[in-house]
Amino acid sequence: MTSEWQGWREAAGEALYGASGFYLAPDGPGAHFRTSVHASPLFAAAVARLLRRVDAALGHPDELTFVDLGAGHGELVTGVLDALPAPVAARVLPYAVEHAPRPAGLDPRVTWTGAPPTGVTGLLFANEWLDNIPLDVVESDEEGVVRTVLVRRDGEQRLGAPVGGTDAEWLRRWWPLPPPLSLDGTAEPGLRAEPGLPAETELRAEPGLRAETGLPRDEAWEAAVGTLTRGLAVAVDYAHTREARPPHATLTGYLAGRQVPPVPDGSRDITAHVALDACAARHPASRLLSQRAALRALGVDGGRPPLTMASTDPAGYVRRLASAGEAAELTATGGLGDFGWLLTPVGVELHEGTGLPGGTGLHQDPGMPGGGSTEQRRDTEVSGDTGGDGERPGDTKGSGDRPGDTKGSGDRPRDMDGDRALSGGTGPSSAPLLVDVADDEEE
Ligand SMILES: C[S@@+](CC[C@H](N)C(=O)[O-])C[C@H]1O[C@@H](n2cnc3c(N)ncnc32)[C@H](O)[C@@H]1O
Repeated sequence: MTSEWQGWREAAGEALYGASGFYLAPDGPGAHFRTSVHASPLFAAAVARLLRRVDAALGHPDELTFVDLGAGHGELVTGVLDALPAPVAARVLPYAVEHAPRPAGLDPRVTWTGAPPTGVTGLLFANEWLDNIPLDVVESDEEGVVRTVLVRRDGEQRLGAPVGGTDAEWLRRWWPLPPPLSLDGTAEPGLRAEPGLPAETELRAEPGLRAETGLPRDEAWEAAVGTLTRGLAVAVDYAHTREARPPHATLTGYLAGRQVPPVPDGSRDITAHVALDACAARHPASRLLSQRAALRALGVDGGRPPLTMASTDPAGYVRRLASAGEAAELTATGGLGDFGWLLTPVGVELHEGTGLPGGTGLHQDPGMPGGGSTEQRRDTEVSGDTGGDGERPGDTKGSGDRPGDTKGSGDRPRDMDGDRALSGGTGPSSAPLLVDVADDEEE
């Protein structure tokens, strides 16, 4: 019903996962955008290596579960099974967790299910899953009162009631909006949108700012991690942290390879960047890395092969060159390399190492000593556009000058700087989550 006004969480939930929702359509998300999984088989191979490290940390159990959470058409779980040595693959129980129906021709070993298995031991991997967990959007009105944004099925938006309850609490803690200024240009006293204020204090901010309330994603991550008895849960997504939230939020749509306005009519993907630091805080041992750091530590190297190889082994040289190009895309600054990896260990001995022989281990991220500091770059060039009009150069996923022409690379705040890890916001007990095992371990 076009005339019905709903919060974005409800509207996007129906538009994505309702009876005629976007993700239930037969063509699947791969027809509309690329993720790291589609960008190169190197990604699945790296996840397979991570699974083997988790396997070693678990003491090579008889049954090693791999859960591909938000599996799309099962591309990642398929690639991981292909990349594993046969003796390891024989012990793996592979699951694809997806709202959409099982695709034809999927490896029969894969269990296709609508909810993650519980009580399992192994690796749960959620690539671009959290960004599709629907959430509400808020905006400060002309008086600075922060209100829930309502939307109709045709995409028309208006402001609703003032934000309260747990959403307001979440915003105070995780997305503190700049307070309104009084006439002399100073912040209005007592109105800072910060934690610790009485619950009845109205949330206020500079007029015209937007935010997305990430509480449903924190809860989704907590539930996903809770399905593991022992092992590692990893969420990979385009993300921002408290120090660098985009002032106008990030909700947008994707349709047929282009960034488009987020109309909740089932025709397109609706997505918003993930406050991964808030998700991380649910589990004290969590760590955040950039994809660049995580993949490099797992042996994905964008370096070119030596030129001399071109004459000694021309075919090998061309293969290595192609592989280096794909690795470069997966680790690119301003592209997929800036994605965040949230790693949450469950009951496993994971120790901090300085790296593995050959650089194939999960190194301690140099920017993240002891899980403490966060050094984020505020990217003031980014507009934080909420509508995604699809007309600005570079907004579409196919735009030429951007290696990561994938969902989220359009107007994404580039807040995952270089190889620095992100703070998990998890306090002093935060143990670095590094699995340090030899890469050449055989069964
Ligand atoms: C952006 S796609 C990512 C697909 C795949 N992981 C990849 O990287 O190419 C997100 C997928 O998560 C699925 N999804 C989202 N929430 C889900 C849930 N609660 N249970 C099962 N699947 C879910 C959607 O149906 C969609 O296929």
